[in-house]
Amino acid sequence: MTPILATDRLSRSFGGLRAVNEVTFSLAPGARQALIGPNGAGKTTFVNILTGVIAPSFGSIRLAGEDITRLSRHQRVRRGMVRTFQVNQLFPDLTPLESVLLAIFERDGKAANLRRPAWREEAAAEEAAAILARLKLADVMDLPTAEIAYGKRRQLEIAVALACRPKLLLLDEPAAGVPDGERQDIMAAIAALPRDVAVLLIEHDMDLVFRFAERIAVLVGGTLLVEDVPERVAADPRVREAYLGESLDGRAA
Ligand SMILES: Nc1ncnc2c1ncn2[C@@H]1O[C@H](COP(=O)(O)OP(=O)(O)OP(=O)(O)O)[C@@H](O)[C@H]1O
Ligand SMILES: [Mg+2]
Repeated sequence: MTPILATDRLSRSFGGLRAVNEVTFSLAPGARQALIGPNGAGKTTFVNILTGVIAPSFGSIRLAGEDITRLSRHQRVRRGMVRTFQVNQLFPDLTPLESVLLAIFERDGKAANLRRPAWREEAAAEEAAAILARLKLADVMDLPTAEIAYGKRRQLEIAVALACRPKLLLLDEPAAGVPDGERQDIMAAIAALPRDVAVLLIEHDMDLVFRFAERIAVLVGGTLLVEDVPERVAADPRVREAYLGESLDGRAA
């Protein structure tokens, strides 16, 4: 089967620092994969290269078999690669419903068309409501985003991403900054994402990682150390060394 994502020796240097170093990596359609690694390992840089935020110094990226290395961010989104950010990037004054509708109109090329037929808007409103319900945001969908709980805002980011109809969803620390009580809701929402969407999750909380992931990739100092099923990753001595002082014991149970 053609991987949904395949990178070949993808690299990016900043001055003398090799932030991402010859990463060759692939993801199957519908994958549930985590990307872990210590602070500064290059995880966000990897996602920034994948999504076209920054250019690679070297290497290539294929999405569903197509070379997208030189495509714009927008073209990548259109082809089904969508991400959320480590730091929340929502419009505070819009409601969740408006934010998701905007993403739907944008996806359908209708953003600037104020004369779209009413039936089209109804279809979009229904789709938006379904996405918001899936992310447990129905009760807050008409409130200004600035007024809803932080955990819900992070769920809204996933809702906006889903409105782009991704084939591959890249989640950069979706639970970062979220209070403990709300983290479980976010992980439940991620676990309940449509099964045909491949998910690459960057996350530091190993409990969340090992509960979610069917495979785990470990990036250390820009280099892909290992990519395997959770049990083998947890048992790998190189991974244990990279996480010096942190216990991975029992996490793969
Ligand atoms: N635009 C940039 N210019 C210069 N150096 C950068 C830039 N972006 C990232 N770096 C450096 O590249 C390395 C990798 O950073 P990156 O943010 O990708 O790590 P990360 O794995 O996402 O870390 P964290 O877990 O803390 O989010 C770091 O040393 C960082 O300082
Ligand atoms: Mg990061």
